[in-house]
Amino acid sequence: MADPFTDDYNTLHNIPKPALPYIPGFEFTITEHTPPNHRVIKKYLLTREEAFQRENTDVLTRCFNKSPLPGHTGSHTLRLKIRKQIRVSDGKSSQIVLVEVISNQLPETMPTTLVAKLYDPLYWDHYQDSVDPFIYIDKEYATETAAYQHLHRQLHEHGETTTHIPHFYGSYTTDITHPDTTPPRNRPVRLILLEHISGLPMDTLNPHTLSQATRKIILEQIITVESHIYKLGVDHFDTYPRNILIQHHPHPSPSSPPSPSPEKNIQITLLDFGHAKIGRSPNPEIIPESDFLGGTYISPILRWTTNGRREPMDSYHEWVDWDWNDWIFEVYGADVGGITEEMYQWLPYTMEEMIVGRLGKGRV
Ligand SMILES: Nc1ncnc2c1ncn2[C@@H]1O[C@H](COP(=O)(O)OP(=O)(O)OP(=O)(O)O)[C@@H](O)[C@H]1O
Ligand SMILES: [Mg+2]
Repeated sequence: MADPFTDDYNTLHNIPKPALPYIPGFEFTITEHTPPNHRVIKKYLLTREEAFQRENTDVLTRCFNKSPLPGHTGSHTLRLKIRKQIRVSDGKSSQIVLVEVISNQLPETMPTTLVAKLYDPLYWDHYQDSVDPFIYIDKEYATETAAYQHLHRQLHEHGETTTHIPHFYGSYTTDITHPDTTPPRNRPVRLILLEHISGLPMDTLNPHTLSQATRKIILEQIITVESHIYKLGVDHFDTYPRNILIQHHPHPSPSSPPSPSPEKNIQITLLDFGHAKIGRSPNPEIIPESDFLGGTYISPILRWTTNGRREPMDSYHEWVDWDWNDWIFEVYGADVGGITEEMYQWLPYTMEEMIVGRLGKGRV
């Protein structure tokens, strides 16, 4: 493990990283790419060797030396042009841009304007020295791709559509050129394409300016969407305000009458499946999904009630000025009949007495 107070090479020697290339007007070609199985990437702590490199080699050279995990590169290509930066900044594990597809081989169902999420390790936060940035970014790319593919497959099989997660338009690789190296060198960067959602990130809203009714509608949607996704086999694991976009449609459609309750036109979208867990079993080859009631709806009464120390509820405290557990029981009260004893495994041990007592069901 690295010394927790060391600097990376660039900071030590005051060497700036190359400027971020992801600016409006930047054009690049992407090729379809299948990531490695996300389950093969289990550990991402900084190894002794990478800790040494971090202090002794500049970050661009490290990126040239460390290609992403291979996966499988296909043949279909698209040409993209960046129209706008959405979240582009050094120190992040991904760069988010609005792109226009400018090639003419566009698949029929693909819109021309999309979001590209680029997993570029060069602009990762290399100041921190606990995580191997290269493995971590490979893991995020492979996991997020697998989660979107799993969810869209499940939705399709169940004949459902949802507007609460962005549509996924595939995983790709591109080569980013560094013209300032001699000779100019390329390095591969992975990315995914997503539907563009025109909402505001929840962490940029001031909850104190919103009525309690509005806040309740937003939180209920988050919980209901998360619980449905969990039923479909994906535990999002990162339902914090920065990963939730909030849209407000004043009129659901031009022909529909104005809603008597404008809050009803709020819609949340859940983003960022980089930390998701696909399937409920920690090791499906040994412990079958059925041991964890795979595919069964688990009520928020078990997964979203809190004893004051349960994530992600803690991150909503500024939004909530009512009794959280009472409200969960009120909103999801219809679930009570379907809660069985084998579902109690979703309650932390310390909460079992509190919630099971309220359910009016004891252990057999
Ligand atoms: N499909 C999209 N449509 C519109 N905006 C998006 C979309 N995807 C991402 N964004 C914007 O970019 C931000 C970062 O996206 P995301 O959370 O996927 O990236 P990340 O690098 O995994 O984030 P984190 O900073 O949480 O590690 C979001 O908060 C949102 O504002
Ligand atoms: Mg995020």
